[in-house]
Amino acid sequence: MALVPLESRLSAGGAGIPVTFIHGFPLDGRMWAPQESVAWGRPVLIPDLAGFGASPWPEGGASIEDQARMVASTLDERGVERTILCGFSMGGYVALAAAALFPERLAALVLVDTRAAADGAETKAAREQAAARILKEGTGFLVDDMLGKVLCRKTLEENGALVSRVRALMAAQKPDAMAGALLAMRDRPSREEALGRLACPVLVIVGAEDSFTPPAEARAMAAMAKDGHLVEVSGAGHLSNMEAPEAVNSALMTFLKRLSG
Ligand code: MLT
Repeated sequence: MALVPLESRLSAGGAGIPVTFIHGFPLDGRMWAPQESVAWGRPVLIPDLAGFGASPWPEGGASIEDQARMVASTLDERGVERTILCGFSMGGYVALAAAALFPERLAALVLVDTRAAADGAETKAAREQAAARILKEGTGFLVDDMLGKVLCRKTLEENGALVSRVRALMAAQKPDAMAGALLAMRDRPSREEALGRLACPVLVIVGAEDSFTPPAEARAMAAMAKDGHLVEVSGAGHLSNMEAPEAVNSALMTFLKRLSG
């Protein structure tokens, strides 16, 4: 397939190795607004994955590995050799694919509410059904379903502004890209071995109430990594960087300060 150029924002923000934030599904780079506003003392790169936000969906579709290759091209275009790759959920699958394909470009890896294991048979079947339904009916049903899964009860009950923001972000995504990304996630392999081989530091962040990619899986990923660190964030579900930005930013800042370069 043809790799398409990804739309991305690069903020200058200081010296050192840049942090690249990779969004989840069905979202785009704007999900990182609570991180983009922080002075990390490093440049920050935020791409929209192919098909999401302002990036086009390639005609032949894009696997999770293709998405990782397109992130690498974006780094090339920006003259970035090595990066601290921070991926949320589907973005974590892309970051883990990058760790398998070009580990030498990763100065560190941050996995936010994601998993290294492949999908089981039930999840694969559900993804296929959802992809087919999107192409017939549009994305509304999935947006409703996802909202209830990615946000914790407290957010759903008490933070209407955030619920509306996340709904608008999800509703803005393109149906063909959403259907294609579901199939790409279905087909991704386990990255447990790649994670275990990775030499660079790995930070795993998880919302304590994440029922989508639960804390038990996050603990297992941190234990799998040679230099793994774990932070569990209370008062957050799956979308921890938006639900509990201060705690997530503080965990990330502590981790970044320990890195050289
Ligand atoms: C995400 O939050 O990026 C996705 O929901 C992940 C998934 O469906 O596995």
